[in-house]
Amino acid sequence: MSVRESAEVDLGRVDELIEREETALEPKHRASIEYKQVVAKTVAGGVASSWQDAPPHAVFIDHGEGNRLWDIDGNEYVDYHLGYGAMVVGHAHPKVVEAVERQIHRGSHFAQPTRDLDAVGENLVERFGLPLWRFCNSGTEATLEAARLMRAVTGREMLIKIEGTYHGHHDSLMISVMPDPDQIGPREHPASLPQVPGIPQAFADLVRVVPFNDLSEAERAFAENEGKIAGMIVEPAMMNCGVILPEPGYLRGLKDICHRNGALFAFDEVKTGATIAYGGAVEAFGVRPDIVALAKAIGGGLPCGAIGATEEVFARVVSGELDMAGTYNGNPLTMAASRVALTEILTRDAYDHFDDIHTKLAEGCTAVIENHRLPAYVTGLGAKGSVIYSATPVKEYRDSLGIDERITYLAWLFQQNRGVFKSPWSKQETWTTSVWHTDEDVRKYVANFEEFAAAISQ
Ligand SMILES: Cc1ncc(COP(=O)(O)O)c(C=O)c1O
Repeated sequence: MSVRESAEVDLGRVDELIEREETALEPKHRASIEYKQVVAKTVAGGVASSWQDAPPHAVFIDHGEGNRLWDIDGNEYVDYHLGYGAMVVGHAHPKVVEAVERQIHRGSHFAQPTRDLDAVGENLVERFGLPLWRFCNSGTEATLEAARLMRAVTGREMLIKIEGTYHGHHDSLMISVMPDPDQIGPREHPASLPQVPGIPQAFADLVRVVPFNDLSEAERAFAENEGKIAGMIVEPAMMNCGVILPEPGYLRGLKDICHRNGALFAFDEVKTGATIAYGGAVEAFGVRPDIVALAKAIGGGLPCGAIGATEEVFARVVSGELDMAGTYNGNPLTMAASRVALTEILTRDAYDHFDDIHTKLAEGCTAVIENHRLPAYVTGLGAKGSVIYSATPVKEYRDSLGIDERITYLAWLFQQNRGVFKSPWSKQETWTTSVWHTDEDVRKYVANFEEFAAAISQ
């Protein structure tokens, strides 16, 4: 990417616009604001998950259809949030509705294996090239099992993870996810910081943190902990500082370093899997790790998760020495939805569509950026993309620290006020597109972005 000369953003102007846009938004969300107070009487904080309550206030959803959703105030949006990227099949896809309806009449839970397992397993083998799979119920469970497998197989306890990457909310990996810049320490020895109170420092001490896109720092981490590292988990394209793509050769290099040191290599494809390409990052970047953790898009909208690995890695699970268990693992509703999502909706054609929509969004937003000389650029792949508000390429978490959250928040407010729902926390979050997104949806997104760019450039 070439570095262009860009104009400075006037943050005073951004503050004024935030106030204007928040004032315009509040009356549109009156029902959400009031209902949250009702919910808060019995539900902590008025929401089911802390990250559902983002500034300026939580927006409660009534229903969705295809590429659209409606909030409880009756506002209609084109949905680029898509449930933090899980809904690439779109809302209430008729095939998913039919599959789930058919199954629910036959029973929704047995905690016994059912008949869709082989079809889903076969499809995941084809996409990701790993021979064996197990199912679970979330991305958190998938990476928890990946971490445990790496430790169980190698008999070692330490893990390496990337600074600034989120792998779910379990204690083994919720370390240095969005670490405080004042506490992160030197780049060659980043501090391992529990992300929330309640995670013992002892868990963090088992995790060595390294920057993304830097092979020599990964080498250093292994050299300093010889014989102690069970494995390394990496989100092959970072998806929570906008989208950060891996540099050419980086993932292949990491795999080699891991194997040279007797450690396992795992991809967290919870966000990239079945979204950036048919075979996720394995296909997009041509590197097959020992373990892949999946969730979100593979479930067609139902709670889901999956762990794929080599026969060697799964050997002790197969032999029964290592239990990988869960009451709802392979739940029949999830498996029914997953089967149609993977085999009938997210076909190769769907990825041509994601690529086409991505190209149009990227071209439209890039033209706006150039017109207004914004310090920003567009990045992404397939159904995932983002505008990164930096004049220079963001290659790792620390590069993103200089981006002022007021700019990304204002960009979110502009879209929200003009009928486009983007994920909250929009400095971190990507856009996601679905099989239902159209050229008209792209035009709407770009037109709103143009209005935002013009407003901050005045
Ligand atoms: C890369 C990655 N891994 C794991 C998770 C955790 O998934 P879940 O929220 O389904 O537990 C997320 C959630 O956003 C994620 O982005």
